[in-house]
Amino acid sequence: MHRILIFCCFLTLGLSLVSCKKDPEICVDCLEDLAFKQAVRDSTPYVLNVPSWLPKPIIPSDNVLTMKGVALGRRLFYDPILSKDSTQSCASCHSLDKSFTDGLPLSKGEKGLVGIRNSMALVNLAYNTRGFFWDGRVNSLENQVLHPIEDPLEMNNTIQEVELRLRRSKMYPALFKEAFGITAKNEITIDLLARAIAQFERTLISGNSRYDQIIWGQKGFPEEDEARGIELFFIEFAGNINHPGCSHCHFNPLFTDNQFRNNGLDYVASLLDFKDPGRRNTTQNINDSGRFRVPTLRNIAFTAPYMHDGRFKTLEEVLQQYEKGGHGVINEDPNILPFKLSDRDKKDLIAFLNMLSDPSFINNKDFSNPF
Ligand code: HEC
Ligand code: HEC
Repeated sequence: MHRILIFCCFLTLGLSLVSCKKDPEICVDCLEDLAFKQAVRDSTPYVLNVPSWLPKPIIPSDNVLTMKGVALGRRLFYDPILSKDSTQSCASCHSLDKSFTDGLPLSKGEKGLVGIRNSMALVNLAYNTRGFFWDGRVNSLENQVLHPIEDPLEMNNTIQEVELRLRRSKMYPALFKEAFGITAKNEITIDLLARAIAQFERTLISGNSRYDQIIWGQKGFPEEDEARGIELFFIEFAGNINHPGCSHCHFNPLFTDNQFRNNGLDYVASLLDFKDPGRRNTTQNINDSGRFRVPTLRNIAFTAPYMHDGRFKTLEEVLQQYEKGGHGVINEDPNILPFKLSDRDKKDLIAFLNMLSDPSFINNKDFSNPF
């Protein structure tokens, strides 16, 4: 038996040496096949590091986080292989130093084509159960991934092409095997890619800002302007025109309620006149026209310009808008009311918003480009 085995080994070795001489490429293939064959599934769990003041992240039982899954997702997130002409990765529009936004009013896709919306921060996504995108049109992170890949204004690619490239790549087959235990390269699917990226995205947790450290971590005290800003942001008193009531929609600890609301940006004569129908796209309900998901204010200092269309360059401009109290359009949220803040009040409110910056998030080496 042993002799037969040894004989077979020599025979295969001999054959591959012969084929090497003839065609060096086949030999490279042999090595890659070997890497794939030798890879073994590794389900070591990924342990999320969540501050005690944040809720428990919601992780779906059919896509639990593993070290290998998260690492693969991170690689795919940063790999331009996903876009048709291999120029754009997810990170092109979601850059870590900007809390995973792109600094543009409207995102630019492959070949510089301009999209219709402002890139969204990828922060604390694991807590959102109300739908992703500004209009909440997809219900899970797994389902979200396909959209940018296939969007002609973004990565402009097809599922078949992405699967083909991953199956043919040098490194991915072994990585997919380690993460998901596939047994053949053609078991690499867009579905597994989406699961890996979603795993990585659920690790993007930010909860260690100066505000958190002072309020929950009991480390230090706010400066005077910050303390006044905190009061202006949180204290709500109907009829008190000096309290804008921001926390009604952007509340602790995530600074969003993930609901869809019209915060009074535009005047329209009829609900059908909004340039971007927003939530109506998803529900087909006319009352949802011009409603958008309330975005988190965590890391807001890093994510200018602001709103779904990036219309405001600065937080000062944002406050000037809110001061007006909307335009009286019928589906405006009842909490959008006019208020009056002095220049000092505005500075203080912005000092508070700046407290929500989390340098440990944007400098986290586990989130950066692995290439
Ligand atoms: C061309 C720029 C661009 C590229 C490339 C891009 N995105 Fe986005 N991303 C956006 C924009 C713009 C939005 C908001 C779109 C909307 O609301 O319609 C968004 C929204 C998202 C959201 C929703 C966040 C939330 O809170 O609802 C996620 C998640 C996301 N992108 C992940 C990815 C991933 C993963 C990739 C790569 C597969 C990717 N993006 C590639 C621009 C881009
Ligand atoms: C009625 C709920 C509501 C209230 C009250 C509210 N907001 Fe908002 N906020 C929203 C919604 C909805 C959006 C997204 C709107 C859009 O893009 O069309 C938003 C967007 C923002 C943005 C832009 C975020 C980004 O990522 O682009 C900032 C900054 C902001 N709000 C700050 C504040 C401040 C400061 C206050 C108090 C003065 C406040 N908000 C009060 C609902 C609210």
